[in-house]
Amino acid sequence: LTVDWDAGHYDTGGYEHYLLKEISEQPETITRTMSGRLDERFHVAHLGGLNMDARETRSFRRVKIIGCGSAYYSGQIGAQLIEELARIPSDAEPASEFRYRNPVVDPDTLYVAISQSGETYDTLAAVQELKRKGGRVIGIVNAVGSAIAREVDGGIYLHAGPEVSVASTKAFTSTTVAFALLALHLGRVRDLSPADGRRIVEGLRRLPGHVEEILAQGDKIAELARKYADHAGMMFVGRVRGYPVAREGAQKLKEISYVHAEAYPASELKHGPLALIGPEMPTVAIVPDDELLDKNLTTLGEIRARGGRVLMVGHREPGSKLADDVIVIPKNEIELDPLLLTIPLQLLAYHAAVALSRDVDKPRNLAKSVTVE
Ligand code: G6P
Repeated sequence: LTVDWDAGHYDTGGYEHYLLKEISEQPETITRTMSGRLDERFHVAHLGGLNMDARETRSFRRVKIIGCGSAYYSGQIGAQLIEELARIPSDAEPASEFRYRNPVVDPDTLYVAISQSGETYDTLAAVQELKRKGGRVIGIVNAVGSAIAREVDGGIYLHAGPEVSVASTKAFTSTTVAFALLALHLGRVRDLSPADGRRIVEGLRRLPGHVEEILAQGDKIAELARKYADHAGMMFVGRVRGYPVAREGAQKLKEISYVHAEAYPASELKHGPLALIGPEMPTVAIVPDDELLDKNLTTLGEIRARGGRVLMVGHREPGSKLADDVIVIPKNEIELDPLLLTIPLQLLAYHAAVALSRDVDKPRNLAKSVTVE
């Protein structure tokens, strides 16, 4: 099976690589994902493609999210958004693990399959297994009419346009927006207040401008990438909302620059990986201004005390005792922080790969769409 796009129709639009083009397009692509779906009057999201009435939308007691690679990490962000805004227990799992462990399929669970291409075989097979067992499955998919889109009961299209570079960027952020819409939708038929609904709707509206502000720091991030790219390995840490961001940041770096990267919840460092920390292993720390700020700053101190270098991504300068370098991003609503925290990590990986003369858009051993087992 091949992915249906004609290279003749898509060029790099003056950018050196598709990846940079796709990173730069994100203010427009996330706007397209929310376009026509936000209701300013009732602070809800209109998601007609779900094919679900209000009673059914209220009936789910759990949400289970499946996907592969970056889609799985965006699913972890999605699970947190749904738990926070709709208070429904939610979690994400790699689709391949899910399909091979003979899952218990529960009628009160909403299953969500994520796929940019809509053709990833493990995700498709998991959806088919769910359908066979009578599970209710929706898709968050970019490619219209793809295999997964045809198989699910309903879903949310990303409308992010074709993603050419193997490493997923704009589909990742659009999926995060789609999850914010889904969480708003599930939340507002439950206990999410109109005031909190409004807060999220307004936060979503501010996202494209905030992404622009981060993209404008491209030169500074390129310089940092050159500074850190010559290390054999990098550690990425974050807590709760920052943890899936750390995982996606590590994934981006390893897949396109071939620099070894590990991601850990910051609190797990002391249970093993702290032994790796030293001048030769810098840490990228995801430190948003949320209720875990103080704990995260303590972790930075622990890393620095062991001679580790720290590149912090967050909302403030913590002082030179805690971080060697800082990328400051705009403050939006706390629940939407993961999307904005991801953008500098995309740029960091991109510029590291360029600095190391890698094949940025087609990294070795990887395929854009994995249609085999
Ligand atoms: C491949 C790509 C990844 C992508 C994953 C899932 O491994 O290299 O970038 O995240 O497939 O792809 P999907 O199309 O299902 O989102």
